[in-house]
Amino acid sequence: MGCGLMGSGIAEVCARAGYTTRVREINEDLLKRGRARIERSLSTAVERRKLEASERDAALSRLQGTTSLSDFADCDIVIEAATENPQIKRQTFEQLDQVCPPHAILASNTSSIPIVQMATATRRPEQVLGMHFMNPVPVMPLIEYVQAITTSESTLETARAFGESLGKRIIVSKDRAGFIVNFLLIPYLCESVRMFEQGFASKEDIDVGMMLGTSYPMGPFTLLDYVGLDTTLYIADILFDEFKDPRFAAPTLLRQMVTAGHLGRKTGRGFYNYEAGEQPPSR
Ligand code: CAA
Repeated sequence: MGCGLMGSGIAEVCARAGYTTRVREINEDLLKRGRARIERSLSTAVERRKLEASERDAALSRLQGTTSLSDFADCDIVIEAATENPQIKRQTFEQLDQVCPPHAILASNTSSIPIVQMATATRRPEQVLGMHFMNPVPVMPLIEYVQAITTSESTLETARAFGESLGKRIIVSKDRAGFIVNFLLIPYLCESVRMFEQGFASKEDIDVGMMLGTSYPMGPFTLLDYVGLDTTLYIADILFDEFKDPRFAAPTLLRQMVTAGHLGRKTGRGFYNYEAGEQPPSR
């Protein structure tokens, strides 16, 4: 469900792994854009010798687009990757429950919303779990699974076998905000912004410090721009709401940049001004 940045990546890895994959968007235009993104990524994989051209073509032939939820009537697993809005997600899960066959597992790629909220919108809460993919999905080898208090062990095990068949490593978290990865990542990103905001160091030096000093593939400001400042702020606010811990309090600068529309790569400007030709430091 959803063929945006995450949804298209998820559809791509499913189709690549050999599954007939149906991806739903709310209109034809978004569907077209999503499919173009998948085609580009699969072609990159061919250029980088990760995939044969014939495998790319086979993956694309397994991929179907739809704007109708009723096309999910014969699916075995649905992965929802739509807007991070609790009301919309509950509504979506309620509809999916009505449309999908009784055996189908329903998963959400949410990075922040408790899974139990979606599970209880269905008549099959034991078959609902979180499957949190990392960005960029075709490249990152991890999926973080979230077991709500309602998720059954057999659902988790079936979903684990599915995730491994996508070529991913699976980790499992209980159902609380931030799960494992964002619980640790978001304070680090917020602390980096505070360090810069307080004038301790330049953003370039902080980025180079973490890249060359700890072998992170990207420094925190490069990663913030990559993930999106709005997404990071949204997750920080959810974490702060749940834990009331100052580690998760969003720095003023981050909030102001989001207000100004400087959201990162997707808007051409974040901590680095890509529109003006600025690039993050490389290795
Ligand atoms: N399909 C398959 N493989 C691909 C590909 C594609 N479309 N595009 C690139 N690759 C492969 C490349 O061939 C390369 O493989 P090797 O290492 O085997 O050579 C590898 O992916 C890296 O690609 P690049 O050389 O193009 O790029 P890079 O080395 O600069 O790495 C990056 C890019 C993978 C994004 C890396 O910088 C990175 O890991 N950054 C951190 C990303 C991160 O932290 N993501 C998590 C964000 S948090 C999140 O997602 C959770 C949330 O809720 C916010």
